[in-house]
Amino acid sequence: MSIKREIERRRTFGIISHPDAGKTTLTEKLLLFGGAIQEAGAVKSNKIKKGATSDFMEIERQRGISVATSVLAFEYEGIKINILDTPGHKDFAEDTFRTLTAVDSVIVVIDVAKGVEAQTEKLVEVCRMRNIPMIVFINKMDREGKDAFELLDEIEQKLNLRVTPLSFPIGMGYDFRGIYNIWEKNVNLFSGSSRKNIEETIEIEDLANPELDQLIGTDAADTLREELELAEIYPKFSREEYLEGKLQPVFFGSALNNFGVRELLDCFVEIAPKPRPKESDTRVVKPDEKDFTGFVFKIHANMDPKHRDRLAFVKIVSGVFERNTPYLHVRNGKKLKFSSPNAFFAEKKQIVDISYPGDIVGLHDTGNFKIGDTLTEGEEMNYKGVPSFSPEHFKYINNADPMKSKQLDKGIDQLMDEGVAQLFTLELNGRKVIGTVGALQFEVIQYRLEHEYGASCRYENLNVHKACWVEPDNPKSDEFKEFKRVKAKFLAKDKRDQLVFFADSAFSLQMTQSKYPNVKLHFVSEYK
Ligand code: G4P
Repeated sequence: MSIKREIERRRTFGIISHPDAGKTTLTEKLLLFGGAIQEAGAVKSNKIKKGATSDFMEIERQRGISVATSVLAFEYEGIKINILDTPGHKDFAEDTFRTLTAVDSVIVVIDVAKGVEAQTEKLVEVCRMRNIPMIVFINKMDREGKDAFELLDEIEQKLNLRVTPLSFPIGMGYDFRGIYNIWEKNVNLFSGSSRKNIEETIEIEDLANPELDQLIGTDAADTLREELELAEIYPKFSREEYLEGKLQPVFFGSALNNFGVRELLDCFVEIAPKPRPKESDTRVVKPDEKDFTGFVFKIHANMDPKHRDRLAFVKIVSGVFERNTPYLHVRNGKKLKFSSPNAFFAEKKQIVDISYPGDIVGLHDTGNFKIGDTLTEGEEMNYKGVPSFSPEHFKYINNADPMKSKQLDKGIDQLMDEGVAQLFTLELNGRKVIGTVGALQFEVIQYRLEHEYGASCRYENLNVHKACWVEPDNPKSDEFKEFKRVKAKFLAKDKRDQLVFFADSAFSLQMTQSKYPNVKLHFVSEYK
């Protein structure tokens, strides 16, 4: 098959949601449709329920599972679908942000009763900033929840999206009767008594058709007609606008009951984007270019505790990736060959000879890769868009066992490459500071340093509100010199040697920015 055809038929996306909205359940139902799994319950949720370290450790123990679910691939109607897993837990938000750099579109799952939640807001904002096409799935329609219009309003306001419903619920909770599919103009009835999905779809081209009254009763039919008339105030669906990230279609359903999922999937394969061009520091790369290029968006460490190897997840941007072929690791200028690249399927990984744009390959790594690294056939260029975000929690990290300082350094180094947290070195005294998105990571780092590297560390509190990457308009200006002198105590370098300013409060950040207007302070490491 030609590379063009392979690109055309690929859809690589992520499902994002606040924990418990139904991401795992929906993923599983999508896999069932694709015939990739045979029974429900096959996809293990890797979520952390109470935010306890013990949960994380448990997940670590089951790492085989979580690696397998990092990428779930299946075929549906000739389309190759790659779902990239995104942790919902807020402490792992950065992992999710990075995974979002490797998706071509997303599905946002929202709980009908809870509406838009904190994590949904954060993740959608990242997608919105990058114009990633989004489809919204409102889940748990079998439960009492918010009115459909109220929810659509909430999504527009809180998430700053422009929505258009492509399906509409008929009742909800106890009275949930089914869904009118605006996209395909048919009705799908939900059998309330058995709570089981029926696959019967009834074509209703014309809403005035009395068959609708027979199917759902006159009252419900009239309400539906009125609601659909009201729903006409929403913009007409335009695929172009959806692809540009300017319009978000909405579906309703119940993942648990496998209801409304097929409608979502059918529409998804029709409208969702194939692999898209990606910007690098020198040019925009198109997927159908002859030469292979790709970038690392995730690193999974130490799958086998006996061999300290890691798996680097590479998204293929262009060309064809082939086994045993030397590729340039642009950052360190080395050519590397991979004898056993992994491709991912529903529940397993397998060695592959060849992969296409949109696909993810897992490369065994002995410490060469960092998140954000680019691989090419020789071209000197780096993909943009795997930024670090300002951490929320900061602590000094100290060596608790002087005999093991080498192990500690190595452990910290590798964990940082994996993106578990960020390391900063204070300019003034060279002390090391760990910054994380969630408090949970500190315990995870301590545990992993001890168990995987035989090193032990101690933390010491440090009062930092945000870490900001510093960009002076003119590095030689007196203003920048004064900034560096006055703020010397609060300056550090990140792992790439970029200058970072530690603000101890929102107020001091504001004051600093207004005092030094020509020294820009950014919350994201990649600001150019
Ligand atoms: P997540 O990955 O987004 O965190 O959510 P997950 O799919 O694990 O779903 C969270 C809970 O919501 C699960 O219940 C799941 O069964 C339930 N759920 C998902 N979809 C629906 C739906 O359409 N209707 C209803 N009523 N419930 C739904 P749980 O009790 O937390 O877990 P479990 O013990 O059932 O697995």
